Amino acid sequence: MSLPSSSHIAAAFGGASGYDAHAGLQQQVADDLLRRLERFSCTRVAQALEIGCGTGYLSRRLATLHPEAHHLFSDLSAIMVDRCRRRLREQGRQERGRFSYLAMDGERSALRRGQLDLITSSMAMQWFHDPPAAVNRLAALLSPAGVLAAATLGEGTFQEWRSVCKEAGVSCGTPHYPSLTRWRDALEENLCWRECSVQEQPISITYSSRRAFLTAVKGVGAGTPDLNHQPVSVSRMRALLAAGDAPFRVTWRVLFLIARRE
Ligand SMILES: C[S@@+](CC[C@H](N)C(=O)[O-])C[C@H]1O[C@@H](n2cnc3c(N)ncnc32)[C@H](O)[C@@H]1O
Repeated sequence: MSLPSSSHIAAAFGGASGYDAHAGLQQQVADDLLRRLERFSCTRVAQALEIGCGTGYLSRRLATLHPEAHHLFSDLSAIMVDRCRRRLREQGRQERGRFSYLAMDGERSALRRGQLDLITSSMAMQWFHDPPAAVNRLAALLSPAGVLAAATLGEGTFQEWRSVCKEAGVSCGTPHYPSLTRWRDALEENLCWRECSVQEQPISITYSSRRAFLTAVKGVGAGTPDLNHQPVSVSRMRALLAAGDAPFRVTWRVLFLIARRE
């Protein structure tokens, strides 16, 4: 994979000051993840970790779903962690001692092993550089019967935009996200699970134009290009955005990973 560096990813998300205005799809996915988690009957959660909490949309719901738990909300971007903390405080959800916040790379956390009853992550793990290693590390953090529940983006996401770039002969900055098979193999290679599932849910969104699509992606801080990306000149990009049919329909291939430890 040739994902951008963690510092570039963090800077882009930190710079997404208008994140919530563009995050309708992210909210829909977080709601879906919670519904799946509820069906998975994840009871007795004392310690929970959220990876990539962003501005705290899922965080708030997790706190409601597991009111007795201690929640650690974390994100690669310290600015995002701060936004999450402020959001929960503004909504009167700053329960002393029950919530903690941490700027942390979810791929390499130094948390104590075997302590967490629930690890969640919504739309963040597509930025992981080494999914199999990450799965092993996260599995080791879970307590017996602890649950990992994540939504991430899979291979084929933004295929329509990739085709536009290919036809125009320009480099496409969209990273190649890990496939469903890669995540499934990563989970299944780790023999610690009592049950695990990986499911794909394609979500097609119709944007008013190509430009509106790119604005939405950049608006949520997800516009950091792949390392192999060859920048396109401003005039060429303008022409590319002006051409083609409007509206512009694009598919987000969302993967849901849910697994419970032995
Ligand atoms: C698209 S946002 C999703 C935020 C939130 N979960 C939501 O659904 O609205 C992705 C978030 O993941 C964070 N992120 C990216 N890579 C990460 C990593 N390796 N560890 C922790 N957080 C990461 C970003 O900083 C960003 O806040």
